[in-house]
Amino acid sequence: MEKFYKELLENNKKWVVKMLDKDPQFFERLSHGQQPPILWIGCADSRVPANEIIGALPGEVFVHRNIANMVVHTDMNMLSVLDYAINVLKVSHVIVCGHYGCGGVQAAMTNKHIGLIDNWIRHIKDVYRFHQDELNAIEDEKTRFDRFVELNVKEQVLDLAKTSIIQNAWGKKQNIHVHGWVYDIHDGIIKDLMVSIKSNESLSQVYQLDL
Ligand code: CO
Repeated sequence: MEKFYKELLENNKKWVVKMLDKDPQFFERLSHGQQPPILWIGCADSRVPANEIIGALPGEVFVHRNIANMVVHTDMNMLSVLDYAINVLKVSHVIVCGHYGCGGVQAAMTNKHIGLIDNWIRHIKDVYRFHQDELNAIEDEKTRFDRFVELNVKEQVLDLAKTSIIQNAWGKKQNIHVHGWVYDIHDGIIKDLMVSIKSNESLSQVYQLDL
């Protein structure tokens, strides 16, 4: 473990040399500022690193990660990241990326008591309740788990669209697309759930803010 830790800083030095070798101005250019076109909301899971799996370089993706890629509308951390990405960086795509085999989503399917995290997982349980008819009808547990991962991403896409931040931006004719993806930890492939939203008209009427 100690060796692994020391290697991290050695790896960093090697990475800098490699990057400068390909592009001598790489760091100098990035030091002037960022203009990423994408906001990524993903799971904190160590197997799903945002930049790496989509081949994006530093400066290309603004990233927010938490357990089970949740968009909780009272989460100041998420709201601050979202506000900055939309209103200052002016990203045009927001991607919620979940993943099959997600421990948070799996825990939400059970009655297991883990600790403080139970209160975070409760948000995922709410998603289960919204879709319990469809989910309870799936007999195979693995299939039900996979479907729950997808439905959770879909709900987070809707939750993003329900925020005043996204709806305000749409009201100002800012071109923002919200997407839902699922990464497969078994083969590394990302599945686009094709639930992209670009206006608040796809929300239930009660959530549509007058803008
Ligand atoms: Co996860």
